[in-house]
Amino acid sequence: MEQPGEIKKVSMAVIKRLPKYYQHLGNLLRDNVERVSSQELSKILGFTASQIRQDLNNFGEFGQQGYGYNVSQLYTEISKILGLNTSHKMVIIGAGNLGQALAKYTGFGIYGFDIIAIFDTNPNLVGREIRDIPIYPVEDMEYFINENDVDIAVLTIPKDKTKKIVKAISKTCIRGIWNFTPVEIKINENIIVENVHLIDSLFTLSYHINEGMLQERLLKQKRKIFPSP
Ligand code: NAI
Repeated sequence: MEQPGEIKKVSMAVIKRLPKYYQHLGNLLRDNVERVSSQELSKILGFTASQIRQDLNNFGEFGQQGYGYNVSQLYTEISKILGLNTSHKMVIIGAGNLGQALAKYTGFGIYGFDIIAIFDTNPNLVGREIRDIPIYPVEDMEYFINENDVDIAVLTIPKDKTKKIVKAISKTCIRGIWNFTPVEIKINENIIVENVHLIDSLFTLSYHINEGMLQERLLKQKRKIFPSP
């Protein structure tokens, strides 16, 4: 049984849906919408209204029967749950193709994720800046992270360099690793690892395309066997 003040354990599936709620509620807030029903959220987000009610009930009683949800209150609560009410300092490790692309993107800052430095081993990159973000030698990484209280390390280094970098990071105040490398990271439990694999998403897209083509083919076959009169 849950004790007062204890954080309720919420399933990963719910956590994964929260960013969608958060972003849509942000749009509603910008359009000065004050309240929204689970049915209205359902039309936009594609989850069923009962799913939405269940999801949001996990975090307290935000909705009122016949009134819907108070957009601003729900937005604030979800931002707290996602830890977006405080800003996070990030560093990117590996200033190659992917590291530079992430550094160039300004969208993370909107949500309080501030990239404050990039680290690399390449002397041709060290000393340069990407969107005013300095690239430092990787030897300075641990000192910089601790001195600047950095929360998140973004890993965009080659596969074979990951183990060594992770070992170095584990001795710092880093609390989370946003891992783009294909390496399965094993680290002490105080550091959370979130893996990002774009290819997984591409495979899902391919699956849906394939599924659509399969349906079309089946439909064509059916029409051949049972031609309409
Ligand atoms: P890249 O070769 O363009 O960049 C790697 C950078 O890391 C280079 O600038 C290199 O000098 C630097 N580097 C090498 N050793 C280092 C070290 N010990 N410390 C700091 N910097 C170091 O490679 P790219 O294309 O940017 O890919 C980077 C990583 O991201 C790879 O592991 C790749 O597999 C992965 N990746 C993952 C994707 C995903 O969806 N998760 C998509 C694309 C790439």
